[in-house]
Amino acid sequence: MTATTRQEQLAAIFKSATVIPVLTIDRLEDAVPLARALVAGGVRVLEVTLRTPVAADAAKAMITEVPEAIVGIGTILDADDLARARALGAKFGISPGATPELLKAAAASELPFAPGIATASELMQALAAGFDLVKFFPAEQAGGIKALRALAGPFPNILICPTGGIGEANAATWLAEPNVVAVGGSWLCPAADIRSGNWAGITAMCARTLKSLKPA
Ligand code: 3PG
Repeated sequence: MTATTRQEQLAAIFKSATVIPVLTIDRLEDAVPLARALVAGGVRVLEVTLRTPVAADAAKAMITEVPEAIVGIGTILDADDLARARALGAKFGISPGATPELLKAAAASELPFAPGIATASELMQALAAGFDLVKFFPAEQAGGIKALRALAGPFPNILICPTGGIGEANAATWLAEPNVVAVGGSWLCPAADIRSGNWAGITAMCARTLKSLKPA
């Protein structure tokens, strides 16, 4: 696969998503019902973060048992995490930041990958490695929409997925920015709902959110 094809695949996944839930899964048995609940609410592109001991097994279970979900791996911190994501069969990888080593490994990998950036210099390093779709993290805390617009000045062709501090109240404002392809966040799957198995509540929240962001 060429780097262009890989970037096109990444952009297509993010554009189809509108919202990408950032999932932290503590119990393996929650993985499949959670993915089904999200998909039932119209949210198909999922980021399973490598933040818990069961994360990789949870992602694997979702990939195997919920084929309608487009499962990516988040919190990729190094080349080993990236290789793990690819071996699991993830459709994409995403990071809160990047290191030169991670960018090099991702440039050599076929896995569509979105590095994280919060400054112009970080964005320049991502672009130099061939990555023009990036996660802007932590979006609200790193300057919000004003910072995004300032970055779009010198870098008009980048595509952005902001994450960090985004929720039901401000998702539409971010999505109205021309460079924003999708927004990410943990608000679509509150830890308390996962813990209590409130799958219907998660489905309802997803459906409500998508309806408000993409009115028929
Ligand atoms: C992430 O990794 O993208 C963040 O943890 C999500 O941020 P949020 O919890 O503010 O949505």
